[in-house]
Amino acid sequence: MRHLLNVSDLTTNEILRIFALSDDLKAKFRAGVREPLLPGRMMALLFEKQSLRTRVSFQSAMTHLGGSSMTLGDDVGFGKRESLADFTRVLSEMVDVIVMRTKKHQTVVDVASHAACSVINGLTDQSHPCQALADLFTIREHFGRLEGLKLAWVGDANNVARSLAMGCALLGVEFAVASPVGYDFDKPLLGKLKQKAPTSKFSATRDPLEAVRGAAAIYTDVWASMGQEAEQDKRRKDFADYQVTGKLMAAAGQGAVFMHCLPARRGEEVTDEVMDAPYSVVVEQAANRMHVQKGILAWLLGTQG
Ligand code: CP
Ligand code: NVA
Repeated sequence: MRHLLNVSDLTTNEILRIFALSDDLKAKFRAGVREPLLPGRMMALLFEKQSLRTRVSFQSAMTHLGGSSMTLGDDVGFGKRESLADFTRVLSEMVDVIVMRTKKHQTVVDVASHAACSVINGLTDQSHPCQALADLFTIREHFGRLEGLKLAWVGDANNVARSLAMGCALLGVEFAVASPVGYDFDKPLLGKLKQKAPTSKFSATRDPLEAVRGAAAIYTDVWASMGQEAEQDKRRKDFADYQVTGKLMAAAGQGAVFMHCLPARRGEEVTDEVMDAPYSVVVEQAANRMHVQKGILAWLLGTQG
């Protein structure tokens, strides 16, 4: 039994296997076929923060695969009625997979340590592996390859950025980050990148123009993530020079795509002009969440072969 808590839980070959499953299931879905690879399987979703894409893509994915899902709300009393261990041991006797979005990363780690079924991280303060996998799948679909491409992250080195940096490292994509002072990747993450992918290309700068030069994809995310609302005003000032504009996109060069995990705060980290430009692939990215979630579920709960 395997969990998916971080991108680094997967090897390069396992990611490519998930992509192959996702390719196949996406092609079939487009042809009107919903292949029931997981009949009778049950998925429980538990979210401590808001979600549109992660929740709906997982629920639709599981239904298309022939399984069912249930969203667990406040009424199950997670963290309130009984110990996390008791809650998890019982829940995991009744479902095949648990998808969780938690405030603290340690919570999904603790749940996974007690679960008798697979646990998938649907975003924590530290990582968002399912997002990063769908993003890399989107880049691969758009450019027909991953190896040798460059992705520029402009903004906060946050949960999504951390997962993407690891995914890029494992798949041969150069990762360049431009962030203000105080919003850099931490040393343990940089150490893990080196350890997991010693030859991967990573660079960090304060200058967005430098980061985007030669990049195939320019990616940004909100300046204040969920749970950081109190820092909103300070972050607006700190990130003022890190907005993705048409000018910044032009500096990346011909053919570069704009990416965002969504939801976006238009007018802050990105302009309307960029969000709505022909080079923006934000909707394709979101749509691919469902297809890649299928690949992840089929891999985790199927043969893993
Ligand atoms: N990108 C993403 O995870 O979206 P949600 O917060 O809507 O799930
Ligand atoms: N960094 C954002 C991503 C939302 C999908 C957050 O954590 O709120």
